Amino acid sequence: MRKLLFFSNNKNKTIEIKKIFKKFKLEILSLSDLDISDEPKESGQTFEENAKIKSDYGFNKTGFPCFADDSGICIESLNWKPGVLSKRFLNNFKSNQACFESIIESTKKNNKQNAYFNTSISLTIKNNQNIIFNGKIDGKISEQAKGRFGFGYDPIFIPKNYNKTLAELSTKEKNQISHRSIAVTKLINFLTN
Ligand code: IMP
Repeated sequence: MRKLLFFSNNKNKTIEIKKIFKKFKLEILSLSDLDISDEPKESGQTFEENAKIKSDYGFNKTGFPCFADDSGICIESLNWKPGVLSKRFLNNFKSNQACFESIIESTKKNNKQNAYFNTSISLTIKNNQNIIFNGKIDGKISEQAKGRFGFGYDPIFIPKNYNKTLAELSTKEKNQISHRSIAVTKLINFLTN
């Protein structure tokens, strides 16, 4: 079975990815399988750059083909930020609720509701050879935070053509439309065709 390293320290993501790939006869190695605990600095300006920094690092360290992802939300009323800084932006507030209220207020004040989530996956197969797979989901910021599923910004994001936030959808429903699953599907198509 072909072996691939998934460069992420997020346990839940790793479990999810291992599960998806098993069906396709691809064996996923995680950082903990290989006892790797150090990570490069995510110093890129874009999702693609950060994903590449991580997948190159993993490949150079282990010699295994390696993929890594980088995701976030881009909000029109914040000039399409926080983008690559999504995690830090949320953590800078005293609670998720405080962050959500601030985003909703800026959305109302500027009368700009649009937002999208993006995931970029970089796959490094050889020295200095990487391929990028992108997934995007368009939507808008809700008028109030709603729902208890998911994580991060899910409670304030309503996907286009829906009237519920991502946090009101089940994991299964979210996975059918999410930015992450779009990018992962493209990666799998590439690897299995
Ligand atoms: P990561 O690169 O996948 O770790 O995502 C970085 C940050 O973006 C996360 O910590 C979340 O705050 C946000 N984010 C990414 N994907 C999602 C999502 O599907 N729902 C909600 N927030 C997300």
